[in-house]
Amino acid sequence: MKILVTGGAGFIGSWIIRHLLQQDSSCEVINLDLLTYAGNLDNLRDVETNPRYRFVHGDIRDANLVSSLMQEVNMCIHAAAETHVDRSITNPLAFIETNVLGTQVLLEAAQKCSLQKFVLVSTDEVYGSLPLDSEEKFTEQSPLKPNSPYAASKASADLLTYSYFKTYGLPVCITRCGNNYGPYQYPEKLIPFFILKLMHGESVPVYGDGLNVRDWIHVADHAAAVTDVLFHGTPGEVYNIGANGQRHNLDVIKTLLKLMEQPESKMAFVQDRPGHDRRYALETRKIQNTLNWKPQHDFESGLAETVAWYQASLPWIQNIQARQQQEHVKPGAEWLIKKS
Ligand code: NAD
Ligand code: DAU
Repeated sequence: MKILVTGGAGFIGSWIIRHLLQQDSSCEVINLDLLTYAGNLDNLRDVETNPRYRFVHGDIRDANLVSSLMQEVNMCIHAAAETHVDRSITNPLAFIETNVLGTQVLLEAAQKCSLQKFVLVSTDEVYGSLPLDSEEKFTEQSPLKPNSPYAASKASADLLTYSYFKTYGLPVCITRCGNNYGPYQYPEKLIPFFILKLMHGESVPVYGDGLNVRDWIHVADHAAAVTDVLFHGTPGEVYNIGANGQRHNLDVIKTLLKLMEQPESKMAFVQDRPGHDRRYALETRKIQNTLNWKPQHDFESGLAETVAWYQASLPWIQNIQARQQQEHVKPGAEWLIKKS
């Protein structure tokens, strides 16, 4: 079995590749990644010499390249994307180009060579936001009501993917997962961004009142779920992936502060993110009952291990910081800096 993984040099993609190579000794993986600011081959040092792994440096929007790779493989997991909501507020076009157009290029190539399975790694953000004062959760039938340019671009990719199932019979599955955490996450997302800031003795910027709720899951559990969907998911189906990990941002941040032995005065309440979704919560019975997948990590110990990993991974961090300086990578929350 040969599998194309797009975005494999990113956070979740690298965990998916590691999981595929470990779980099935007959499985070969091609990783197609553009190595944007978020792509990092250091995330895959442990597999780079594996004879069943090959890296291809390229763009999912390159139709010729994608078409030739698609002819080599049996299945595809599409994880490549622009992924940071803050960046989508200042540069939405990049999100449309990669997340929408890039997905269409992949789907077209997959359809032309009769791929056995195409899995889109989508997100719970496509459902929009839930009120704080309710118990409601998103099911796979919930309407798509994205609020940020990032979420809208992912919802577009999600709908396009389904259209290739209905129109061309391409065997697609779509996964919608909540907020991931764990080792190798690029330090612009809440948890690694705050860990690094606290490691440097800096304060951490809490958007708004900090009461927004996110549904956290360890990235290893997400990678295992996506792999299960690839091999056992029913074509045309959507699978929510979550670990019942709903927490207020303030809970997460206070837990981080405790783990890192820092005072609560390190929290700096700043201007809210425009269009900031209030609450995400996923109903995940479908994947648990039909594919027998279950999360293996609990949030408290997973977070403690994640903090320890960052504290022990200075070379990984320093390489990213050196690249940020060289490539003049702007912070994701540029809107905040401009307006404050
Ligand atoms: P990431 O930002 O860490 O990595 C994205 C990867 O995609 C990078 O390696 C980048 O180089 C690559 N890439 C970007 N544009 C490309 C292009 N045009 N061609 C080829 N490669 C390109 O992302 P992540 O957080 O690991 O997210 C992976 C996927 O999972 C995304 O589709 C995202 O929407 C989805 N997702 C993420 C989360 C989360 O919490 N991070 C949750 C649910 C779903
Ligand atoms: O829900 C899944 C999504 O989770 C993925 O699809 C996205 O790719 C991923 O980026 C993530 O989106 P969020 O916007 O939820 O993640 P982020 O880490 O940016 O923010 C988490 C919460 O923390 C959110 O409520 C905003 C808040 N926040 C974030 C940052 C970076 C802060 O308060 N301060 C910050 O500096």
